[in-house]
Amino acid sequence: MMMIVTQNTMAVERKKRKLKRIAVLTSGGDAPGMNAAIRAVTRAAIANKLKVVGIRHGYQGMIDGDFISLKAFDVSGILHLGGTVLKTARCMEFMTSEGREKAYQQLKKAEIDAVVVIGGDGSFTGALVMSQEYNMPFVGIPATIDNDMYGTDYTIGYETALNTVVDAVDKIRDTARSHGRIFFVEVMGHEAGLIALNSGIACGAEVIVIPESNEHQQDELHKFLSKGYKNKESSGIVIVAEGEETGGAMKIAEEVRKEHPDLEVRVSILGHIQRGGSPTAKDRINATRMGVAAIDALLDDQKSVMIGIANDHIVQVPFNKAVKLNHNIDTYLLEIQRLMNS
Ligand code: F6P
Repeated sequence: MMMIVTQNTMAVERKKRKLKRIAVLTSGGDAPGMNAAIRAVTRAAIANKLKVVGIRHGYQGMIDGDFISLKAFDVSGILHLGGTVLKTARCMEFMTSEGREKAYQQLKKAEIDAVVVIGGDGSFTGALVMSQEYNMPFVGIPATIDNDMYGTDYTIGYETALNTVVDAVDKIRDTARSHGRIFFVEVMGHEAGLIALNSGIACGAEVIVIPESNEHQQDELHKFLSKGYKNKESSGIVIVAEGEETGGAMKIAEEVRKEHPDLEVRVSILGHIQRGGSPTAKDRINATRMGVAAIDALLDDQKSVMIGIANDHIVQVPFNKAVKLNHNIDTYLLEIQRLMNS
């Protein structure tokens, strides 16, 4: 069950406050807009007379007690920066009960009453387990370029990553056209095809190969190679979502080379350029909205919820739903993509 929330910091401010000091950390893969979220969490907390501690290097920093005090001016000049000023990590030790015990002792020593985690589903799984073990309130802000979180239309960084892919593929298209080549462009997405699907539509890709519809898309590819390309096209862009399910761009291109030795096939793996760069206006605005909403949620005694944006409204999604359920792709978008190439 998702709950739509009206953002009203002033109303929350009037409530009796139990919280005194909150911590904020970034965890998992970095995503453009994480800094905007850190800034919003810090400033909204300070506006509500809370003290703020930044935890460096994600959960590893929680275990090691790598804490810094954050004042409003400490988060000046970071809104437009990619990456995360608090650094991030994927922490194996936090997956053990010993690791979480150490982390809890550090939080207790620093008199931290609640934690805001900016990250993806792995980060929220850790938060959920620790909040159950130690009754520590955690609120999550979804930040991953993959946009694969259940309960939110949007995760921080996705919009910027999508624009980075579109920009890169537009450039690759110039070479594809000039040389009459077929490019297999691999994009990120972990086990989700949202970047591939939407960048494919935005770039007019001839075919997209995504884990959610792998077999069907492979058929589309064969159709394109045997009919479309040979009869009416002189070049083509095939966007492939990374991962075992699709096999990745290299593998698909290799198979195509064997079957069609006459074609000029090239592969381009965009890789981590998709994770970097200055966040778009939308990523900055949504990161700011979600940062403020995270503090509202904590002041409202919420715990173990992820802040999300659904139909442009702030929502709260229980962690156990956010981490267990999938963000399904919009099959209508797949139809549109096919229609554009029929
Ligand atoms: O989860 C975000 C993501 O960018 C995935 O799309 C990708 O598979 C993964 O991170 C790569 O992460 P890293 O290089 O940090 O291990």
